[in-house]
Amino acid sequence: MKKTFVIFGATGDLTKRKLLPAFYNLQAENRLPETFEIIAVGRRDFDSELYREKAAEHVKNHSRNKPRPEIWNKLREKIRYLKMNFTKETEYPQLFEALRGTELAIFYFAVAPEHFETITVNLKNKLPKDFGVRVVIEKPFGHDLPSAASLNKLLSDSFGEENIYRIDHYLGKEMTQNIHFIRFANTIFEPLWNKDFIEQVQIISSETIGVEDRGNYYERAGALSDMFQSHLLQLLSLIAMEKPENLDTETVRDKKVEILSALRPLTPEEAENYLVFGQYSGDGNIPAYREERNVSETSETETFLALRLFLNSERWRGVPFYIMTGKRLPVKKTEIIIQFKKFPSPYDEDLHNLLVFKIQPEEGVYLRFNAKKMGVTDEIVPVKMDFCQNCHIGLNSPEAYERLLDDAIKGDSARFTRWDEIEHSWRFVQGLKEHKSKLHFYPPFTWGPEGAWEMIKRDGKHWFNSEDEDENL
Ligand code: BG6
Repeated sequence: MKKTFVIFGATGDLTKRKLLPAFYNLQAENRLPETFEIIAVGRRDFDSELYREKAAEHVKNHSRNKPRPEIWNKLREKIRYLKMNFTKETEYPQLFEALRGTELAIFYFAVAPEHFETITVNLKNKLPKDFGVRVVIEKPFGHDLPSAASLNKLLSDSFGEENIYRIDHYLGKEMTQNIHFIRFANTIFEPLWNKDFIEQVQIISSETIGVEDRGNYYERAGALSDMFQSHLLQLLSLIAMEKPENLDTETVRDKKVEILSALRPLTPEEAENYLVFGQYSGDGNIPAYREERNVSETSETETFLALRLFLNSERWRGVPFYIMTGKRLPVKKTEIIIQFKKFPSPYDEDLHNLLVFKIQPEEGVYLRFNAKKMGVTDEIVPVKMDFCQNCHIGLNSPEAYERLLDDAIKGDSARFTRWDEIEHSWRFVQGLKEHKSKLHFYPPFTWGPEGAWEMIKRDGKHWFNSEDEDENL
């Protein structure tokens, strides 16, 4: 079956940094279909030859594996450039002409969200009926609940829900997928996975970069819509979901939806004390957020967010989930920390166990437990059982986009989000937006505003985000 992958936005950043390198690595592993073509759609005045030359550079710069000519040449032959203005209806016939002979067209919307609708309408109106269609759509899926709902209606009326692949690239990350395995393939964790044994859950996702050249988009999104609504709520749903009866895509998604619909809206008092918005300031060398390109000098957009939330669920009654995310923080890292409850022990009262999912950059999981210090002493010391997946030399795990492109080509939608997941996420986020009041500033490369620390201290806890973990754990 001839499959054709059409990239709208073929000269954009996402294509350069993620999609082309991902295709290269799929080619290297012989994972692309026999008869496969990539049509790179862009407005620039390139021809296929020039585009391929540029693509080779992007692969060289961004691929996790050093490109080998014999592999690149195989991929190169599959790439064709189509100069086209996708906002003009009159330019679509040339695309349909280029698709002649294909049996399945996969359209990837790697463009700014304001173009999603135009492309959909133009495709829908004229799309020939002689081949199957899938649509892969990047986040953000809408900018609030009404806009997401209207985009969803347009997409599902045009292509059918089963043909829509909504990307959340965190679902393609190696350790995100491993959450299921660790929870459901081990006797020692699942029986303890509830309010009786778990004291708290923290999800911390920090970045050192600022907003870079995405000011236009970020001004409207902020940390709440950019990271929290999508990636972090997805991680939360995987950590908190009930055990599915089987691993069918829809069964698993149903369980995730149960959690996303159980997010308890914050009361005004909770919002006052447990919802902190921050924005990075500058320090002379590093520009403040308000000094970034395409950002207003008086911007109120948050680049940092910390909050505490609870789930309306029997399993999690009373267990706080603390979430922190931000740009221009001291490290690039995403971790999920599960702290188990203390129990009556003849030893020191401060003993506790931790299970930490290291999503990135290190991929792995570790269990912190207590043991006797070696020697003639009865002292207890915390020790770690640490499994690091990508620490071995020569092991470099596939990028999220490799897996997601492979899935979309094969027609496996398990690692993509279903509409109702997005719907419930936006509903919760909408509530948080309504509580947004003060914005606190924080210097670059610090762990956000004071308020984030006071918030958790109030509960007698601390963030597990130290660079020197042993000191903090
Ligand atoms: C994107 C956000 O979805 O995820 C960015 O729009 C963010 O703002 C990025 O930088 C983080 O992804 P990763 O894989 O680098 O953690």
